[in-house]
Amino acid sequence: MMTIDYHIPVMLNECIKGLEINPDGYFVDATFGGGGHSKEILKHLKTGKLMAFDQDDRAVENVPDHDQLIFVKHNFQYFKNFLKYQDMLPVDGILADLGVSSHQIDTAERGFSFRFDADLDMRMDQEQKLSALEVVNEYPEEELARIFYLYGEFKRSRPLAKGIVQARGLSPIKTTNDLKAIAEPFLDKKHFNKGLAQIFQAIRIEVNQELEVLTNFLNDTVSALKPGGRLVVLTYHSLEDRLVKNLIQKGNIEGKQVQDFYGNLIRPFTPVNRKPILASDEEMAINPRARSAKLRIAIKNEVSN
Ligand SMILES: C[S@@+](CC[C@H](N)C(=O)[O-])C[C@H]1O[C@@H](n2cnc3c(N)ncnc32)[C@H](O)[C@@H]1O
Repeated sequence: MMTIDYHIPVMLNECIKGLEINPDGYFVDATFGGGGHSKEILKHLKTGKLMAFDQDDRAVENVPDHDQLIFVKHNFQYFKNFLKYQDMLPVDGILADLGVSSHQIDTAERGFSFRFDADLDMRMDQEQKLSALEVVNEYPEEELARIFYLYGEFKRSRPLAKGIVQARGLSPIKTTNDLKAIAEPFLDKKHFNKGLAQIFQAIRIEVNQELEVLTNFLNDTVSALKPGGRLVVLTYHSLEDRLVKNLIQKGNIEGKQVQDFYGNLIRPFTPVNRKPILASDEEMAINPRARSAKLRIAIKNEVSN
């Protein structure tokens, strides 16, 4: 029987190089998933430790029994509290490979993909209450329009929100196919799948509060890393990448440039590369997920300048 990988790690070598692993240091993998990146980090450790996070029950099944690994089944936005509890602060490196895993997307019943008909769900953390079902059936029209516009960058966000509210007035929208049928009149025939991907992305970001969580996480990386420590982040859409880029290049998530008394930019990080690193053509050919990936690496400054 053919086995399908849980998730093929994206830019594995580039991420490991970016972390500049000190074999005796402390590291964080914020997004364990199938453990591809974590397992490689562990190979480089001698007396060091790795704390890895994932909020998905299924990811737990991939966790190896390893003395130097502490796995936390929790949202990574609280990572600093867990490091503190284990007396691991400050750390030498933090890796985050954002978004959903191939396993989550390819498991029909999770409702992440419009390729399958399934109940509307899209929760990464199965214990969470808010799911796509509530967002689609209960959010006010204005709020839906805002989500489609801001998180999906979907042009016809207002008519789509109106269409959803009208449709759910007749009967509840229960499945991914129900949602697809309602969205169809608002999609450009030539870019049908792109439009659907934007709508599904928007709902997924809202369900998992991805941008708020990422903001909290990124802000805490500043104080969690030791001077010289490495921040390595893989993003898969422009909204995530903008937050990471703002912090690394401008000095804060909002992207405001703040100067000190002498006119120097106050920045907690120095970017290792000005432009994000992209996957090689070979990797993109093997792993379609790598096509939208952007990797940013930064070094924590001695003092915030
Ligand atoms: C792209 S996959 C990571 C794949 C992993 N690097 C590997 O090589 O297998 C992202 C994973 O992060 C988890 N995740 C996303 N956001 C999270 C959050 N806020 N807290 C905890 N886990 C999260 C998802 O459940 C998913 O398993």
